Amino acid sequence: MTVLVTGGAGYVGSHTALALHEAGHDIVLVDNFANSSPMAVDATRALAKPEVARLDFVEVDLCDAEALANVFKKYRLSAVIHFAAHKAVADSVNEPVRYYQNNLGSLLNLLEVMVEFGVGILVYSSSCMVYGQPLALPVTELAPLKPANPYGRTKLMCEQVIADVCAVQPLAAICLRYFNPVGAHPSGCLGEDPNQTSNNLLPLVLQVASGRREKVLVFGDDYDTADGSGVRDYVHVVDLAEAHVLALDRLAAGYQDAISVNVGSGFGTSVFELIDVAERVCGVPISFEVCGRRSGDIAKTWAATDLAAEFLGWRAKRDVNDMVADHWRWHSRNPDGYVA
Ligand SMILES: NC(=O)c1ccc[n+]([C@@H]2O[C@H](COP(=O)([O-])OP(=O)(O)OC[C@H]3O[C@@H](n4cnc5c(N)ncnc54)[C@H](O)[C@@H]3O)[C@@H](O)[C@H]2O)c1
Repeated sequence: MTVLVTGGAGYVGSHTALALHEAGHDIVLVDNFANSSPMAVDATRALAKPEVARLDFVEVDLCDAEALANVFKKYRLSAVIHFAAHKAVADSVNEPVRYYQNNLGSLLNLLEVMVEFGVGILVYSSSCMVYGQPLALPVTELAPLKPANPYGRTKLMCEQVIADVCAVQPLAAICLRYFNPVGAHPSGCLGEDPNQTSNNLLPLVLQVASGRREKVLVFGDDYDTADGSGVRDYVHVVDLAEAHVLALDRLAAGYQDAISVNVGSGFGTSVFELIDVAERVCGVPISFEVCGRRSGDIAKTWAATDLAAEFLGWRAKRDVNDMVADHWRWHSRNPDGYVA
């Protein structure tokens, strides 16, 4: 297949592009580098084998409908994996219009052009944020959908738009609801390097391990969890990339509808547990300071993974030690991210 990967220079997009390439698919990456750099494309290409399949890149803002249509005119696409979006929760609270414009606008343009060019397969990057505060654990796909911030609402609205289009057009879609992607490609050459400040825990912990940050701030140690700190479901980015390849296979095999599927490890890891693992993997003590809870944070969440196993044949293979070790290798070799 020739697969369009939007947001293909980003963290999950670049790892998925490589996994698709390794599965033999030709790929066209598009990105506007709003939160990434051309060096991520170079790094993906450096790990690819040109004799296996094609890996092209086109710089496009998905909010520019004409530029996007030109990509569809140039390539005979069979499927799309749509990663391109803004994803910082705090920014989405402060700049909701920019978030709705980008995340919804890019999807609407994409769906319009997919229908026009008869491309009927879509895998969409959704998020566990669509659930908001879960009422029961593990969170199943049937849990109430109550996103707690504009970013989460853009993800839910996009899922709803996709389902509406699938109902009336020859389009089938799988929306993958990621839990917390971490880790990096085991080569240490491909990883997470956002332009925007990231508040993700593991990169901050590893910055302390490498001496680039003084301490980790732990937001609350009085939650209703075993050690009082917040608990999240971390999933290795390479496992997540493989889930996309399987989703594409499932759609290519003839699935006709729209469905949402959790992609998580199914295990909860607390902030203190993650710091412990990082201390062991990195071999250095990691200073932290407990401060007050952050407004909007939830105590604990982890995914029910039965649907991913039954519907996609996917389960996470890599554990938290692998996630931290691979992320640490990336961080140690590239402390400033991708550098020219
Ligand atoms: N990483 C996470 O924690 C996480 C969790 C759940 C869901 N997701 C979703 O997964 C997807 C990928 O996340 P990521 O972590 O790789 O983020 P990322 O920011 O690294 O990648 C997104 C890419 O999309 C690009 N982009 C944004 N708007 C664009 C536009 N209008 N036109 C073209 N390119 C555009 C950015 O430049 C970036 O390269 C996003 O949709 C995100 O909402 C991420």
